[in-house]
Amino acid sequence: MKVVVLGGSGFLGSHVSDALTEAGHEVLIFDIKHSPYLRPGQQMVVGDILDERAVEDSVQGASVVYNFAGIADIAEASQRPIDSVKFNILGNSIVLEACRKAGVKRFVFASSLYVYSKAGSFYRSTKQACELLIENYHEVFGLSYTILRYGSLYGPRADKKNAIYNFVKQAIASGKIIRHGDGEELREYIHVLDAAKGSCEILSDEFANQYVILTGQQQMRIKDLLIMINEMLDNKVTVEFAPANESYHYEITPFSFAPRVGKRLTGKTYLDLGQGILDIIYSVYREVNPFPIVNGIVLNDSMQAVDGQAPQKIS
Ligand SMILES: NC(=O)c1ccc[n+]([C@@H]2O[C@H](COP(=O)([O-])OP(=O)(O)OC[C@H]3O[C@@H](n4cnc5c(N)ncnc54)[C@H](O)[C@@H]3O)[C@@H](O)[C@H]2O)c1
Repeated sequence: MKVVVLGGSGFLGSHVSDALTEAGHEVLIFDIKHSPYLRPGQQMVVGDILDERAVEDSVQGASVVYNFAGIADIAEASQRPIDSVKFNILGNSIVLEACRKAGVKRFVFASSLYVYSKAGSFYRSTKQACELLIENYHEVFGLSYTILRYGSLYGPRADKKNAIYNFVKQAIASGKIIRHGDGEELREYIHVLDAAKGSCEILSDEFANQYVILTGQQQMRIKDLLIMINEMLDNKVTVEFAPANESYHYEITPFSFAPRVGKRLTGKTYLDLGQGILDIIYSVYREVNPFPIVNGIVLNDSMQAVDGQAPQKIS
């Protein structure tokens, strides 16, 4: 079936697009940026989510539409409230309207655990507004939906907005990690490949018109995560805790606000956090130093880290 992924050139959307293609769907990616991860068979439309005509044309004939497009960074949303409202709320409303007109069977939205929290500023409020608008489209027009509330993601293709990538990059580039917060904050990390798998599984009927929580089973304090990264880097990293912006991030749990309760979707197997971080260390080494020494081996041009994976010899 035809599946449209808005924001499919980004970190999470590109992995979900891959998983959908692997499941045999016809994937069309709509994004303001061309996807560097486009696979054979995937179609690409470069366009703005605020362009009603372009969005309508793209969702024509689609059975399922995912929306990952918009401002995905809490700090950026906090600094750009009007753009956050435009891209996250108006943009999502334009997609909903196009889905209704095209008779789309399921609309899937990328929400966040921050909807439960008092933290998260405009990022959180735009996600809450979108969830309510999606419910209205269901009540008034019968548009079927699944709302995915993701936890803390990590893994290949992440950029500097991503906490784990950011810690590893700081550690490797400068030997020092500065964390805004006291490190006591608790997070449930989920590897992006596990999140992408779960994001496809929810297409079954049991998840129609449901809220689904997609977080990892690996709960960890940020302080312990930083100790883990430091140990993997031979204890050569200095960690400094700086004052936090309390309106941005939650401490122990996001669950303080009470929107509709979500079902938690956990896979039978999942990718291990330690192994996942090691993969990120390898790929950041390659970014920072073209000939890094890893485990005593000098990597040269005949070795490469493939899409965040451990270095592999290429023939
Ligand atoms: N990464 C996480 O940890 C996480 C956690 C919870 C929820 N989410 C949500 O998942 C979604 C994707 O997050 P991500 O981390 O992949 O972010 P990302 O920034 O990598 O992806 C967002 C994509 O949207 C595209 N985009 C932005 N403005 C657009 C516009 N006007 N028109 C068309 N495309 C536009 C960007 O080019 C980008 O490819 C976001 O809605 C985010 O809030 C992410």
